[in-house]
Amino acid sequence: MRTKSLTQAFEHAAEIMLEADGRAAGLTGAGISVASGIPAFRGSQGLWDKYDPFEYAEINNFKKQPEKVWEMLGEMLAVVEKAHPNRAHKALAELEGKGLLRTLITQNVDGLHQAAGSLEVIEFHGATRDLCCLSCDWRWPDFKLIAVKNLPPHCQQCGAVLKPDVVFFGEPIPERALLEATAAAEKAKVMLVIGTSANVHPAADMPILTKRSGGKVIEINLELTPLSGSVADLTILGPADQLLPEIIAACERLVGNE
Ligand code: APR
Repeated sequence: MRTKSLTQAFEHAAEIMLEADGRAAGLTGAGISVASGIPAFRGSQGLWDKYDPFEYAEINNFKKQPEKVWEMLGEMLAVVEKAHPNRAHKALAELEGKGLLRTLITQNVDGLHQAAGSLEVIEFHGATRDLCCLSCDWRWPDFKLIAVKNLPPHCQQCGAVLKPDVVFFGEPIPERALLEATAAAEKAKVMLVIGTSANVHPAADMPILTKRSGGKVIEINLELTPLSGSVADLTILGPADQLLPEIIAACERLVGNE
């Protein structure tokens, strides 16, 4: 039996989404991909429990000891290559298809939003699909682990160890992604924030930009975050792959009753 408050929360979220009349943006974090088998970074079983992010995901350490960092990267890529979009990814693609969500800003590097059918995706921290060389301009598009006998993979132009085209700590956000995400956040009348601990900036600033521009923020997460009770107008706690389809159903009921 569902609590009344949860039903009311879905209806409240649907009202905000429909009021936005399509001018809605999304911000997703690792939590949305947990149901696809990709561990989040923080919290129980988080990747950063096993690997110190400032040792394994910091750019200067990568340059000093790339082979060591590839111990973590190899494990991460093996999981990402096996992962498929879950109901939460598909729900966001459905919202875009219904004209209720315009732009999706993701901190995730797993490509699952595009695999689920989302078209307008801004990869704020890059993506694992391509490898790049820090010593020359060579790139390995659509890299798969099966393509190499041993890790780490090396540049076929200069021999340097390659790096997935993701943003490490100490690296800037790709300029185009930052500009597009900022514009989308400022234009949005609502931002759906899903599965992020809202700890890492400037990604976590995006909902604040929406708020500052007069928009609303709906947060869906397993736990409270720095956005809860302040920036977020509505926080619904629970698994995104269960909550998002409920919000879509509430939107359909609301449209049906109009
Ligand atoms: N549904 C909804 N939320 C979930 C679920 C789920 N099934 N599972 C976990 N969560 C929540 C957790 O409670 C947590 O608050 O998702 C959040 C994941 O937080 P993080 O692991 O910190 O991931 P994220 O916020 O994406 O991290 C941001 O930090 O390490 C860097 O570059 C990395 O992009 C990453 C950034």
